[in-house]
Amino acid sequence: MESTARGDPAAVLRLEALTVSFGGSGSPIRAVRGVDITLRAASVHALVGESGAGKSVSAKAVLGLLPRSATCGGRILFHDTDLLSLPARSLRAIRGKRIAMVFQQPDKHLNPTMRVGSQVAEVLRYHNGLERREALLQARSLLDMVELNGREVLRSFPHELSGGMKQRVAIASAIACRPEVLIADEPTTALDVTIQSQILALLDRVRRELGTAILFISHDLPLVRGFADDVSVLYAGRIVEQATSRELFSCAHHPYTDRLIAATPDPARRGERLAAIRGSVPDPQDVPAGCAFAPRCPMAADRCRVEVPPLRLSEDADGSQRRSACHFAEQLICGSLHDG
Ligand SMILES: Nc1ncnc2c1ncn2[C@@H]1O[C@H](COP(=O)(O)OP(=O)(O)OP(=O)(O)O)[C@@H](O)[C@H]1O
Ligand code: SF4
Ligand SMILES: [Mg+2]
Repeated sequence: MESTARGDPAAVLRLEALTVSFGGSGSPIRAVRGVDITLRAASVHALVGESGAGKSVSAKAVLGLLPRSATCGGRILFHDTDLLSLPARSLRAIRGKRIAMVFQQPDKHLNPTMRVGSQVAEVLRYHNGLERREALLQARSLLDMVELNGREVLRSFPHELSGGMKQRVAIASAIACRPEVLIADEPTTALDVTIQSQILALLDRVRRELGTAILFISHDLPLVRGFADDVSVLYAGRIVEQATSRELFSCAHHPYTDRLIAATPDPARRGERLAAIRGSVPDPQDVPAGCAFAPRCPMAADRCRVEVPPLRLSEDADGSQRRSACHFAEQLICGSLHDG
């Protein structure tokens, strides 16, 4: 297996066997338990899964934003540099410049006492060493680029803007240095449906015009389906299925993906009964042996309760391949499950 992101010419970021745990050696919280993801330039890779799956922790690991109580293992390769072994100072030079992040709540990352223009300009001054005047000029262009009235918004304070406008400002700050990677953690969850699609259209423009690779974290499968090129489905800190968006949504190769899709409202399946996923996600301090999904899985067999299913290639009827972590992926392929 190729060991650096540089090995795949399109790969800009690669998570290799990433693990993150919190707390001491007694009973650690194992939030991420061996995640492999390749993010290609100018593509969107979505990370989906129920609450507590380890999506945000994985994203924060990339940016070195985890608290001191966290211990990371594996590698996070940005081109051929392992971010996990970089000194804090070197990571600060990359964070916000070459790898940027947009969060669910822009309020948490905007300073309420500072004008918006100065906040966007600050990123350019810190990373690119621009003078204040030049930084403000560029900030205005960035605000125009995210379809705000740059001249007006430059002078506004965050509380004068709507939620959608604040998220645009956050995106303007994030793309100020034309990052190669943008991590967007539930960037539209707090917004109404119309604004959601406008923000997605904006992120898509950023991807096309700047060639930025986007790691898109979301609970919203219909949104992911229309926006992502590739999808990783995370369950209890592990990837259980990884495929192109088209393949994943055309048929699941893992019972959890199948259940997740069946539990999602979809206008194309209006009138069909939604099947809630029975049970709940395991406690990260007490993940079951074998397959973590076994207690909730309608296909679980004795083997599943003792043997961890590796993430391995499985093949569709048309010969296309994806990765699934289920002992019985071949039996499931394109068959929909029903709760027993
Ligand atoms: N600072 C922390 N200390 C201890 N445990 C943590 C910490 N941060 C996250 N966790 C735990 O790690 C697990 C994964 O959390 P994470 O925030 O990544 O979930 P998520 O997939 O982003 O969920 P959501 O969809 O709700 O945002 C959870 O069990 C969470 O409680
Ligand atoms: S390995 Fe077993 S328990 Fe896990 S998803 Fe597959 S069938 Fe279900
Ligand atoms: Mg989260």
